[in-house]
Amino acid sequence: MDAFIRDIPKAELHIHIEGSLEPELMFALAQRNNISLPYSSVDAVRAAYQFENLQSFLDLYYAGAAVLQTEQDFYDLTWAYLERCAAQNVRHTEIFFDPQTHTERGIPFETVHTGIYRALEDAKQQWGITSYLILCFLRHLSAESAMATLEQALPFKSTIPTVGLDSSELGHPPVKFQQVFDRARAEGFLTVAHAGEEGPAEYIWEAIRLLEVSRIDHGVRCVEDPQLVDYLVQRQIPLTVCPLSNVRLCVFDSIQQHNLKHLLDLGLCVTVNSDDPAYFGGYITENFEAVQSALHLSHQDIYQLVKNSFTAAFLPSDEKQARLDELDQFMASVT
Ligand code: ADE
Ligand code: ZN
Repeated sequence: MDAFIRDIPKAELHIHIEGSLEPELMFALAQRNNISLPYSSVDAVRAAYQFENLQSFLDLYYAGAAVLQTEQDFYDLTWAYLERCAAQNVRHTEIFFDPQTHTERGIPFETVHTGIYRALEDAKQQWGITSYLILCFLRHLSAESAMATLEQALPFKSTIPTVGLDSSELGHPPVKFQQVFDRARAEGFLTVAHAGEEGPAEYIWEAIRLLEVSRIDHGVRCVEDPQLVDYLVQRQIPLTVCPLSNVRLCVFDSIQQHNLKHLLDLGLCVTVNSDDPAYFGGYITENFEAVQSALHLSHQDIYQLVKNSFTAAFLPSDEKQARLDELDQFMASVT
């Protein structure tokens, strides 16, 4: 089973690039940029990763991101994630980035974008890994700040097909960003949003009705509203679920309590993702391994989850079909 999970060609649809900053790279970048960290060692950083909820994680996550200063830093961060993708047979990845985390510190939007994007281009050349960028607005900041960020992104529109919504969910419902998302869709962006991670099922409805999202990020609290579940099943609106994240952020008490298998059995288009792998104890393969053993997933379940992620990807239909064919060839080769 472990080899099957490692080798099956995968897509990842929910990964925050800032959340892939491993403590080793955090230290290296701090040194390179003459920044002092409030930790004595890499082990001390890891020891600090004990979270009670989403906010307690976000506080450390934003602090860690302060070591990212130059275009090369963003390149190195992204390249390190893509090396993991190559090792774990991730064939396609859709990556969130949080420009406001950096522009608020005086780092130009272009520095962030160019560093990340160059690494994506190089990974396509080197390994054939395809990727899309998703610009996330920070929901704890104002709608005006989000709108200004959208305007900064317009010159780079051809390389950022989608916008999303992340950060502190409770108290910042999707409706707060309705006008920003109206403008984004008018400019041709697709939309996604984090909803139903800590927030209620109602936030998922808002994301669908007001932001017209193509996918819901997390969405595990949809089960609290049977009508919503029916709607998500009928339309096959994908949920990008992040099991290890949900346990680390206390959305579920343990991986055994996670509702992924239940969501799958309900016929929802669920996918498995890592969210912030450097903070939550694993990349996509470790997420699959954890849910497989805790929830007793079969080979067929793993196949369905992986197939869902290619189906839910924003790839053009010919490329999507090529990835699905590659997946079916893999299945034929192992059965
Ligand atoms: N930003 C990074 N990870 C996040 C998460 N799990 N939820 C909301 N915002 C985030
Ligand atoms: Zn996330």
